[in-house]
Amino acid sequence: MLNLVLFGPPGAGKGTQSQKLIARYNLVHLSTGDLLRAQIARGTELGLKAKKLMDEGLLVPDEVVIGMIGSALQENEQAAGFIFDGFPRTVPQAESLDRLLAAHDTKVSCMVALEVKGDELVKRLLERGKTSGRPDDQDETKISRRVTVYNTETAQVAGYYATQNKFHALNGIGEIEDIFGQICAILDQHQPATPSGSQQAAQEVKA
Ligand code: AP5
Ligand code: MG
Repeated sequence: MLNLVLFGPPGAGKGTQSQKLIARYNLVHLSTGDLLRAQIARGTELGLKAKKLMDEGLLVPDEVVIGMIGSALQENEQAAGFIFDGFPRTVPQAESLDRLLAAHDTKVSCMVALEVKGDELVKRLLERGKTSGRPDDQDETKISRRVTVYNTETAQVAGYYATQNKFHALNGIGEIEDIFGQICAILDQHQPATPSGSQQAAQEVKA
Protein backbone atom coordinates (compact mmCIF):
# COMPACT_ATOMS: atom_id res chain seq x y z
CA MET A 1 0.00 0.00 0.00
CA LEU A 2 1.03 3.56 -0.62
CA ASN A 3 0.12 5.77 2.32
CA LEU A 4 1.10 9.43 1.94
CA VAL A 5 0.93 12.09 4.65
CA LEU A 6 0.61 15.33 2.67
CA PHE A 7 1.69 18.06 5.02
CA GLY A 8 1.94 21.84 5.04
CA PRO A 9 0.40 25.02 6.40
CA PRO A 10 -3.11 26.28 5.50
CA GLY A 11 -3.16 27.16 1.82
CA ALA A 12 0.03 25.25 0.97
CA GLY A 13 -1.78 23.27 -1.75
CA LYS A 14 -2.57 19.98 0.04
CA GLY A 15 -6.10 19.73 -1.35
CA THR A 16 -5.05 20.84 -4.83
CA GLN A 17 -2.27 18.27 -5.08
CA SER A 18 -4.42 15.53 -3.48
CA GLN A 19 -6.93 15.76 -6.31
CA LYS A 20 -4.20 15.13 -8.86
CA LEU A 21 -2.52 12.38 -6.82
CA ILE A 22 -5.67 10.30 -6.22
CA ALA A 23 -6.19 10.17 -9.99
CA ARG A 24 -2.63 9.06 -10.71
CA TYR A 25 -2.13 6.56 -7.89
CA ASN A 26 -5.71 5.35 -7.29
CA LEU A 27 -5.59 6.38 -3.64
CA VAL A 28 -8.38 7.27 -1.23
CA HIS A 29 -8.25 10.91 -0.12
CA LEU A 30 -8.82 11.43 3.61
CA SER A 31 -8.93 15.13 4.49
CA THR A 32 -9.95 15.68 8.09
CA GLY A 33 -10.96 19.26 7.19
CA ASP A 34 -13.32 17.94 4.48
CA LEU A 35 -14.68 15.23 6.81
CA LEU A 36 -15.36 17.85 9.50
CA ARG A 37 -17.04 20.21 7.02
CA ALA A 38 -19.26 17.29 5.92
CA GLN A 39 -20.30 16.84 9.56
CA ILE A 40 -21.10 20.56 9.77
CA ALA A 41 -23.14 20.39 6.56
CA ARG A 42 -25.14 17.49 8.03
CA GLY A 43 -25.72 19.43 11.26
CA THR A 44 -24.43 16.64 13.47
CA GLU A 45 -23.52 17.25 17.12
CA LEU A 46 -19.86 16.62 16.29
CA GLY A 47 -20.10 19.13 13.45
CA LEU A 48 -21.68 21.81 15.61
CA LYS A 49 -18.91 21.48 18.21
CA ALA A 50 -16.16 21.42 15.58
CA LYS A 51 -17.54 24.44 13.73
CA LYS A 52 -16.89 26.82 16.63
CA LEU A 53 -13.22 25.83 16.73
CA MET A 54 -12.73 25.68 12.95
CA ASP A 55 -14.30 29.09 12.39
CA GLU A 56 -11.75 30.52 14.83
CA GLY A 57 -8.86 28.68 13.19
CA LEU A 58 -8.24 26.43 16.20
CA LEU A 59 -7.66 22.66 16.18
CA VAL A 60 -10.50 20.31 17.08
CA PRO A 61 -9.66 17.73 19.79
CA ASP A 62 -7.36 14.87 18.81
CA GLU A 63 -9.88 12.16 19.73
CA VAL A 64 -12.46 13.60 17.31
CA VAL A 65 -10.22 13.46 14.23
CA ILE A 66 -8.59 10.16 15.25
CA GLY A 67 -12.08 8.63 15.52
CA MET A 68 -13.00 9.89 12.05
CA ILE A 69 -9.83 8.50 10.50
CA GLY A 70 -10.32 5.15 12.26
CA SER A 71 -13.83 4.86 10.81
CA ALA A 72 -12.68 5.90 7.33
CA LEU A 73 -9.95 3.25 7.33
CA GLN A 74 -12.49 0.58 8.24
CA GLU A 75 -14.84 1.76 5.49
CA ASN A 76 -12.07 1.49 2.87
CA GLU A 77 -10.53 -1.93 3.56
CA GLN A 78 -9.93 -2.55 -0.16
CA ALA A 79 -8.10 0.72 -0.85
CA ALA A 80 -4.75 0.67 -2.67
CA GLY A 81 -3.58 3.33 -0.25
CA PHE A 82 -4.47 6.66 1.30
CA ILE A 83 -3.56 10.32 1.15
CA PHE A 84 -3.84 11.85 4.61
CA ASP A 85 -4.44 15.58 4.05
CA GLY A 86 -4.46 17.81 7.11
CA PHE A 87 -3.88 14.81 9.38
CA PRO A 88 -1.92 14.19 11.58
CA ARG A 89 -1.67 17.71 12.99
CA THR A 90 -0.24 16.80 16.42
CA VAL A 91 2.24 14.17 17.59
CA PRO A 92 -0.50 12.20 19.44
CA GLN A 93 -2.44 12.11 16.13
CA ALA A 94 0.70 10.80 14.36
CA GLU A 95 1.15 8.10 17.02
CA SER A 96 -2.51 7.10 16.68
CA LEU A 97 -2.21 6.92 12.90
CA ASP A 98 0.70 4.50 13.25
CA ARG A 99 -1.39 2.32 15.57
CA LEU A 100 -4.46 2.45 13.30
CA LEU A 101 -2.46 1.54 10.20
CA ALA A 102 -0.62 -1.25 12.04
CA ALA A 103 -4.00 -2.75 12.90
CA HIS A 104 -4.63 -2.89 9.13
CA ASP A 105 -1.16 -4.41 8.52
CA THR A 106 0.18 -1.30 6.84
CA LYS A 107 2.11 1.89 7.66
CA VAL A 108 2.86 5.43 6.52
CA SER A 109 5.05 5.27 3.39
CA CYS A 110 6.26 8.86 3.54
CA MET A 111 5.42 12.45 4.42
CA VAL A 112 5.67 15.18 1.78
CA ALA A 113 5.68 18.69 3.24
CA LEU A 114 4.77 21.64 0.99
CA GLU A 115 6.70 24.68 2.20
CA VAL A 116 5.05 28.06 1.59
CA LYS A 117 5.73 31.26 3.48
CA GLY A 118 3.12 33.22 5.41
CA ASP A 119 2.44 36.16 3.08
CA GLU A 120 1.78 33.82 0.13
CA LEU A 121 -0.57 31.71 2.30
CA VAL A 122 -2.60 34.76 3.32
CA LYS A 123 -2.79 35.93 -0.31
CA ARG A 124 -3.97 32.49 -1.54
CA LEU A 125 -6.58 32.01 1.19
CA LEU A 126 -8.07 35.50 0.92
CA GLU A 127 -8.44 34.86 -2.80
CA ARG A 128 -9.99 31.40 -2.22
CA GLY A 129 -12.28 32.95 0.41
CA LYS A 130 -14.07 34.95 -2.29
CA THR A 131 -15.67 31.71 -3.53
CA SER A 132 -14.97 28.94 -0.98
CA GLY A 133 -17.66 29.89 1.52
CA ARG A 134 -15.26 28.79 4.27
CA PRO A 135 -15.67 31.08 7.31
CA ASP A 136 -12.00 30.50 8.20
CA ASP A 137 -10.92 32.01 4.84
CA GLN A 138 -12.81 35.25 5.32
CA ASP A 139 -10.41 37.52 7.12
CA GLU A 140 -6.72 37.97 7.56
CA THR A 141 -6.85 37.65 11.36
CA LYS A 142 -8.35 34.14 11.18
CA ILE A 143 -5.97 33.06 8.44
CA SER A 144 -2.98 34.34 10.44
CA ARG A 145 -4.24 32.44 13.49
CA ARG A 146 -4.39 29.23 11.45
CA VAL A 147 -0.81 29.79 10.34
CA THR A 148 0.26 30.46 13.95
CA VAL A 149 -1.50 27.29 15.14
CA TYR A 150 0.33 25.39 12.39
CA ASN A 151 3.70 26.80 13.48
CA THR A 152 3.16 26.20 17.20
CA GLU A 153 1.16 22.95 17.31
CA THR A 154 1.56 21.16 13.97
CA ALA A 155 5.00 21.88 12.46
CA GLN A 156 6.64 19.54 15.00
CA VAL A 157 4.87 16.56 13.39
CA ALA A 158 7.50 16.81 10.61
CA GLY A 159 10.13 15.79 13.15
CA TYR A 160 8.13 12.69 14.04
CA TYR A 161 8.47 11.45 10.45
CA ALA A 162 12.04 12.74 10.03
CA THR A 163 13.17 10.42 12.83
CA GLN A 164 11.62 7.55 10.83
CA ASN A 165 13.44 8.71 7.63
CA LYS A 166 10.09 9.35 5.97
CA PHE A 167 10.21 13.14 5.66
CA HIS A 168 10.51 14.97 2.31
CA ALA A 169 10.19 18.77 1.97
CA LEU A 170 9.30 20.56 -1.28
CA ASN A 171 8.98 24.20 -2.25
CA GLY A 172 5.20 24.71 -2.48
CA ILE A 173 5.55 27.95 -4.43
CA GLY A 174 5.52 27.57 -8.19
CA GLU A 175 3.44 25.99 -10.92
CA ILE A 176 0.94 23.40 -9.64
CA GLU A 177 2.04 20.93 -12.37
CA ASP A 178 5.73 21.29 -11.43
CA ILE A 179 5.00 20.65 -7.76
CA PHE A 180 2.85 17.65 -8.71
CA GLY A 181 5.76 16.22 -10.72
CA GLN A 182 8.10 16.59 -7.76
CA ILE A 183 5.64 14.81 -5.43
CA CYS A 184 5.23 12.00 -7.98
CA ALA A 185 9.01 11.58 -8.17
CA ILE A 186 9.07 10.98 -4.41
CA LEU A 187 6.07 8.62 -4.46
CA ASP A 188 7.51 6.62 -7.35
CA GLN A 189 10.43 5.70 -5.09
CA HIS A 190 7.84 3.98 -2.90
CA GLN A 191 5.46 2.66 -5.55
CA PRO A 192 5.25 3.42 -9.29
CA ALA A 193 1.91 4.67 -10.59
CA THR A 194 -0.16 1.78 -11.97
CA PRO A 195 -0.75 1.87 -15.75
CA SER A 196 -4.48 1.70 -15.07
CA GLY A 197 -4.36 4.76 -12.79
CA SER A 198 -6.97 7.14 -14.17
CA GLN A 199 -9.51 9.76 -13.22
CA GLN A 200 -12.16 7.02 -13.24
CA ALA A 201 -10.16 4.91 -10.82
CA ALA A 202 -9.73 7.78 -8.40
CA GLN A 203 -11.60 7.41 -5.18
CA GLU A 204 -12.93 10.19 -3.03
CA VAL A 205 -14.35 9.52 0.40
CA LYS A 206 -17.87 10.74 0.58
CA ALA A 207 -18.35 11.65 4.21
P1 AP5 B 1 -8.24 21.98 6.62
O1 AP5 B 1 -9.45 21.84 5.82
O2 AP5 B 1 -7.25 20.86 6.68
O3 AP5 B 1 -7.53 23.31 6.17
P2 AP5 B 1 -6.01 23.80 6.19
O4 AP5 B 1 -4.99 22.86 6.66
O5 AP5 B 1 -6.12 25.10 6.89
O6 AP5 B 1 -5.65 23.87 4.71
P3 AP5 B 1 -6.46 24.42 3.50
O7 AP5 B 1 -7.49 23.42 3.09
O8 AP5 B 1 -6.92 25.81 3.76
O9 AP5 B 1 -5.27 24.53 2.42
P4 AP5 B 1 -4.63 23.43 1.46
O10 AP5 B 1 -3.25 23.17 1.87
O11 AP5 B 1 -5.55 22.27 1.25
O12 AP5 B 1 -4.55 24.31 0.14
P5 AP5 B 1 -5.44 24.27 -1.19
O13 AP5 B 1 -4.99 23.18 -2.08
O14 AP5 B 1 -6.89 24.38 -0.86
O15 AP5 B 1 -8.60 22.29 8.16
C1 AP5 B 1 -9.58 23.27 8.49
C2 AP5 B 1 -9.81 23.25 9.99
O16 AP5 B 1 -10.33 21.97 10.38
C3 AP5 B 1 -8.57 23.44 10.88
O17 AP5 B 1 -8.26 24.80 11.06
C4 AP5 B 1 -9.01 22.76 12.17
O18 AP5 B 1 -9.91 23.60 12.89
C5 AP5 B 1 -9.80 21.58 11.65
N1 AP5 B 1 -8.97 20.38 11.46
C6 AP5 B 1 -8.73 19.74 10.28
N2 AP5 B 1 -7.93 18.69 10.46
C7 AP5 B 1 -7.63 18.66 11.79
C8 AP5 B 1 -6.80 17.82 12.58
N3 AP5 B 1 -6.12 16.79 12.04
N4 AP5 B 1 -6.71 18.08 13.91
C9 AP5 B 1 -7.40 19.09 14.46
N5 AP5 B 1 -8.18 19.95 13.77
C10 AP5 B 1 -8.29 19.74 12.43
O19 AP5 B 1 -4.93 25.65 -1.87
C11 AP5 B 1 -5.26 26.89 -1.30
C12 AP5 B 1 -5.48 27.91 -2.45
O20 AP5 B 1 -4.24 28.10 -3.12
C13 AP5 B 1 -6.47 27.41 -3.49
O21 AP5 B 1 -7.24 28.50 -3.94
C14 AP5 B 1 -5.56 26.87 -4.62
O22 AP5 B 1 -6.16 27.00 -5.87
C15 AP5 B 1 -4.34 27.77 -4.48
N6 AP5 B 1 -3.08 27.08 -4.86
C16 AP5 B 1 -2.72 25.80 -4.60
N7 AP5 B 1 -1.48 25.54 -5.07
C17 AP5 B 1 -1.04 26.69 -5.61
C18 AP5 B 1 0.18 27.07 -6.26
N8 AP5 B 1 1.17 26.21 -6.44
N9 AP5 B 1 0.31 28.35 -6.70
C19 AP5 B 1 -0.72 29.24 -6.52
N10 AP5 B 1 -1.90 28.95 -5.93
C20 AP5 B 1 -2.05 27.69 -5.48
MG1 MG C 1 -7.38 21.65 2.13
